[in-house]
Amino acid sequence: MDEYDLIILGGGPAGYFAAERAAHGGLKTLLFEKRALGGVCLNEGCIPSKALLNSAKILDYAKHASSYGVNVEGYSIDQSAVIARKNKVVKALVSGVGMQMKKEKVTVINKTAVITGKTADGFSVTDGENTYAADKLLIATGSVPVIPPIPGLREGVESGFCLTNREILDLTEIPESLVVIGGGVIGLEMASYFNSVGSKVTVIEMLDKIAGPTESEISTLLLKNYKKSGVDFKLSCKVTAVGTDSVTYEENGESRTVPASKVLVAIGRKPFTDGIGIDKIGVYTERGAIVTDEHLRTNVPGVYAAGDVNGKVMLAHTAYRESEVAVNHMLGKRDVMRYNAIPSVIYTNPEVASVGETAESAAAKGIETKTVSVSMRMSGRYLAETDGGNGIAKLIIDIKNNKLIGVHLIGSYTSEMIYGAALMIETELDIEALKELVFPHPTVSEVIREALFAAD
Ligand code: NAI
Repeated sequence: MDEYDLIILGGGPAGYFAAERAAHGGLKTLLFEKRALGGVCLNEGCIPSKALLNSAKILDYAKHASSYGVNVEGYSIDQSAVIARKNKVVKALVSGVGMQMKKEKVTVINKTAVITGKTADGFSVTDGENTYAADKLLIATGSVPVIPPIPGLREGVESGFCLTNREILDLTEIPESLVVIGGGVIGLEMASYFNSVGSKVTVIEMLDKIAGPTESEISTLLLKNYKKSGVDFKLSCKVTAVGTDSVTYEENGESRTVPASKVLVAIGRKPFTDGIGIDKIGVYTERGAIVTDEHLRTNVPGVYAAGDVNGKVMLAHTAYRESEVAVNHMLGKRDVMRYNAIPSVIYTNPEVASVGETAESAAAKGIETKTVSVSMRMSGRYLAETDGGNGIAKLIIDIKNNKLIGVHLIGSYTSEMIYGAALMIETELDIEALKELVFPHPTVSEVIREALFAAD
């Protein structure tokens, strides 16, 4: 039996980053990945969707070039070329992770691993052929899409009519019409792409707003922008059946049908723990998610869980940080996971980026707040580059402590600005200290400075 200090199940952002940090810290590390290193993020999530969205952005620039005094003729989208480019980007990043594993001397096995129990040698794990043992385990098996029991949906997924985030990123033909079930992050990013490249897109969302927990004014503005660009929304609607070329939903008690060439199911993801053997060692779960503490420890000493599998904040950047905290704990270093300043971004056009509390979430915690909202048009660069843009920056300030506790942005470049806002919240500097920061001019980020001054 091969013995290790640490065995990691899953080679996504949580797993591969933990492997790198652990091996770097001197632990003999074994990483199991059943598909491809990089997990959902690199192969069928964050990165490939951004490659597609960038192609859509370039196409949108071409469409609107004349408003900026540029004449573009004869442009079109070549979906196969977009997918080929995306595949190239993914391949480069996945092989980069492989090289990093080699550099740090992590053993990588491309197989499914199952925990079989605990013996005097430690936790035992099998890949069906060999058995391995380690003192410590990190479960980083990620999440899978939720497929609800809507009549016809499973059959649709099997026939290829209904797609999840995995298949939609490989479509080499643009569907004439796309019905998206779920107006959350995946649904909106894909609605944005396929609308730009020419599909007739309809989003069916159960709630009366899009983008889930996004600050309500920003969610409304995003909806307005989407509608303006041609996406159709069915809010407060429930999908009741999926046919072979249509989707049926209920609106105000009435049944309606919308035709579809393809359907995207994006109603959320759930932690993946099926058949990995956590029951063999008694790892505790709640509603399917592995329960972890501030060091990412499970209830079983020596067993940790990081990333989507613990169901806390299903974002790749949370996974990176969680795995670092878990490995630091294994190495005896002081470190604690904090979830109060984790940024989130929706990479649509315009981009949405948020961090920290909304006025509503702060009120629920009994924090008295002041909200400051400024138009992005206060930024010279925004105005120079964005004709007719209606972006805003919204700050949530804790009145008692005079501190920034939330920032919510909609507009171009906000995905790249939000880490600065997260830093402001994380460092807990007061508003007066934040006002002393010098922002580069002209940049869109200056709207945050404008909002800080508007707080007076
Ligand atoms: P989500 O939780 O963001 O959105 C799901 C939406 O579906 C919600 O608005 C919900 O109300 C709606 N819904 C649920 N059941 C429904 C039904 N039967 N009919 C109609 N609507 C229904 O989940 P999504 O978009 O699938 O994303 C999954 C995960 O991936 C999320 O945790 C997200 O954070 C992550 N992700 C993050 C990205 C980013 O950070 N840019 C990009 C893509 C995904």
